[in-house]
Amino acid sequence: MRISSESTDYRIYRILSDKPVSGEKLANELGITRTAVWKAVQKLKESGVHLESGASGYRIIGEIELNPYKIARIAFENGFKEVHFYNETDSTNTRAREYGKPNVLFFANKQTAGRGRYGRRWLSEEGGLYFSMTLSPPLDYSDLPKLTLIAGLSVAESIPDAEVKWPNDVLIHGRKVCGILSELHGEVERPLVIIGIGINVENSAPENGISVSELFDMSRKEVFELVLKNFSKNYRMLLSGSWDELRTGIEQMCSTIGKKVRVVTSSGVVEGVAESLSEDGSLVVNGRKIYAGDCIHLR
Ligand code: BTN
Repeated sequence: MRISSESTDYRIYRILSDKPVSGEKLANELGITRTAVWKAVQKLKESGVHLESGASGYRIIGEIELNPYKIARIAFENGFKEVHFYNETDSTNTRAREYGKPNVLFFANKQTAGRGRYGRRWLSEEGGLYFSMTLSPPLDYSDLPKLTLIAGLSVAESIPDAEVKWPNDVLIHGRKVCGILSELHGEVERPLVIIGIGINVENSAPENGISVSELFDMSRKEVFELVLKNFSKNYRMLLSGSWDELRTGIEQMCSTIGKKVRVVTSSGVVEGVAESLSEDGSLVVNGRKIYAGDCIHLR
């Protein structure tokens, strides 16, 4: 289902989140018929917003913690214009690419064909977080990899003990809790950037992975809200020219730095000590800049 901040159902959700209101008042306030109000209320109910209608009007008496309207509220508060929610889809990155518009957040409770980097699969069972954000940032093409890095930073800032593994994984105690798949689509001058984030939260993580709930008492909603808040803060910083500050933050949270690594790049395998994150976001290994690759921590 698709939710925009102007849609009737979302506006009613926001109004009723504050206080109970009668159907008549809602109809007047939104300039719609009572039937339209009733229909929107049914939509909310079907999406896990529990409503009762009493003397004071419609009242929210509870809701599924991370229902589509809550997701939309969090997304809109952090700069997105539209949310597409799926209980199940193949891959939110694929949905995002098909839709092709910026500032949209695609969210799925499970994915049947979750994709990872290098054609790998991303297991996407219920209990994890799977979402993709589309952006059309006013940045040079060469700056776009920084978006993946700030996405990793944002996730690491949201989960205790988390660290960034260059270029786009987040680990807890050396085990993978989150993977990020960034893809570009459309015009080279102003491409659509798709940032897909998968986080093991309440699902059981695959071998060598870890789930947030194994260690911390955090719900999917809490993790999702923190990641979006941190991403929106870091994205604004990037656009306002504070990359240096962000780079320092990433370096501090990046467990790759100082480790012996093996990076498989398109032009060969590089092995050595990861020294730093350079100005352009590349990893410096034995004095050589690496822009992209599959990185393995050796020790
Ligand atoms: C990786 O570790 O290789 C990246 C994994 C990225 C998984 C996320 S889940 C949401 C989005 N949709 C996908 O199909 N993949 C990304």
